[in-house]
Order: sequence, then structure tokens, then C-alpha cells
Amino acid sequence: MTEPVTRHVPVLADEVIRWLDPQPGQVLIDGTLGGGGHSRLLAERVGPTGRIYSLDRDRAAVEIAQKSLADVCVTPLWANYRDLKLVLRDIGIESIDGALIDIGLSSDQLADAARGFSFSADGPLDLRFDVSEGRPAGELVDKLGEQDLADLIFRYGEERYSRRIARAIVERRRESPLQSAGELADLVKRVVPRTLDAQRIHPATRTFQALRIAVNDELGALEAFLRDAPECVRRGGRVAVISFHSLEDRIVKEAFRNDARWEVVTKKPIVATEAEIARNPRARSAKLRVAVVGGLSRSPK
Ligand SMILES: C[S@@+](CC[C@H](N)C(=O)[O-])C[C@H]1O[C@@H](n2cnc3c(N)ncnc32)[C@H](O)[C@@H]1O
Repeated sequence: MTEPVTRHVPVLADEVIRWLDPQPGQVLIDGTLGGGGHSRLLAERVGPTGRIYSLDRDRAAVEIAQKSLADVCVTPLWANYRDLKLVLRDIGIESIDGALIDIGLSSDQLADAARGFSFSADGPLDLRFDVSEGRPAGELVDKLGEQDLADLIFRYGEERYSRRIARAIVERRRESPLQSAGELADLVKRVVPRTLDAQRIHPATRTFQALRIAVNDELGALEAFLRDAPECVRRGGRVAVISFHSLEDRIVKEAFRNDARWEVVTKKPIVATEAEIARNPRARSAKLRVAVVGGLSRSPK
């Protein structure tokens, strides 16, 4: 039996199709290609006369999709969705019919021990989507002062034991630097109290999330995308954002509400059904918000 190309199961798949409402012949951006599940679904809707340009910062995801999605009208591109305007200029497109971003990391990245996303694997503490830019998480853990480390883990991880974790990291690194994802996960597990929450998620989940958000500047990328998308999507075109973190969801909610170029379509975020969560536990914290580009600042297509 051949190995499946991806382990990643796209979340809120039916809901994305229902709310983004792709039509035959449309040109869309999937800003987070990942395992290509959403891209394939969108491609089936736009059909052979349409096109999905699917971006990912992770070169490995793009290389896999070049083969696995060769049978549909998807063009995988190694790019950051924060550079949407540049990407469109490079491919020579003035405006698109809509866009999707499904933020965060994919199950394929989590499963790749060499990337350090998984606490159970002894990979290097890296956590970058694109290993060709920025600094690995190990460097932050090794160099940041205790207060800055605690603030980072509190802000991006919403971790209430951030101070305790930062203190333990600083004490530990006086002896020797933390080398691997597994070492950091064990340290966090030792210093945070066992709570009910710990039965549901690994105690290091929030710390890893905080470091990942920081090394990839994930919130900065989201803000840039939301600022630029109304200039790239035609009037009446839709943009869908799936987030997994309350900080991200707040950024999306406020941008859609406060920027006059957007008209919100989903008054409340769309969440997964119990049945989907049972099939795919990643869907538990997913929130989908959709808006139409419709403000008066844009001229019609
Ligand atoms: C949750 S997965 C997407 C899964 C995808 N929707 C699917 O159906 O398989 C998120 C992906 O977005 C990528 N990513 C994260 N931030 C990005 C950014 N700023 N620009 C482009 N890709 C990004 C990650 O490398 C990861 O592959």
C-alpha cells in the first residue's frame, strides 16, 4: 500500500465551501497550502477554467503539492501570505475573486521530528515554517532575558505559568543550553502544576505555541494580509480566515469590523460540529470568519 501524501485533514471543509462560495472560472488564493486539502476542494469548485494559487512558507509543502495536486488547477507557490500584493504582481494578476487562509501549522509539520514542532520528538528547537529566514526558537530560548521570555510565553501562549517556565529555562541554561524540543517539553512539564487542562493537552502546548507564533511573526503576517487583501480582491469577492488562537481571532474580528473596506458575512465565528471534532480533534479550536470586500474605497472590477 502506498503512503498517503499528507496526514493533514482540512478543518471546516464544508463550511469553507459554503461561505467562500467558489464559482466555476474563478481565480482564488489559498494562502496556506499545507497538505493541500482545502486547495483541492476549491479547485474542484472553480473547475478547469479557474485557478487556485496556493502559497506556503514551507518549501517541503510546496514541493509535495507540485506532484499531489498536479491533476487539478492548483499552482503551488513558495511564498508568505503577508506578501499577497507582491505575489499577485509577480504572477501578473491584478485582482482575485477571493482568498482563504487557515492559520497555524499542519499535521505534516507536527509529524516531522526534524522541525521541532512536536514535544514528543527529539528534534532541534526550531519551529520555523521557513527555515531559510529568521531565527530558530532555540535561539530565543537561549538568549532572551527572563522577563522577556515570560512576557512572550504569556502573550502568545496565554500561559498562566509563564513566569515559572521562564525562570526554569533561565536556571537550566546556566548549566547547558536546551538543545531539543523534547528537552524543553520535559522542563515545562516538570514546572507547571498538573491541572485538569493537562489531561486534555500536553503541558508544553502553550509554550510551544508562543515560541512558534514569535519566530514566524504570525500575528504580523495576519495583520499585513488583512490590510492588503481588500486591495487585491475584487469588489464583492470573499475572504475567509480560519484561526486557532484567541489572539488571532481577535485580530480578524477587529479588522473585519473596524476597516470600512470589509463587510462581515459571518456575524459570529463558524465553529466545527461535534461530529467533526470527534473525527478530527484539531478542529476543536478552529474559528472561521468570512467578509466581503465591499467598501466604497474600491472601484468596481
Ligand atoms: C493549518 S496548515 C494549512 C492546511 C491546509 N489548509 C490543508 O487543507 O491542508 C497551515 C499551513 O500554513 C503555512 N503557513 C503558516 N504561515 C504562513 C504564511 N504567513 N504564509 C504562507 N504559509 C504559511 C504553514 O507552513 C502550514 O503549512
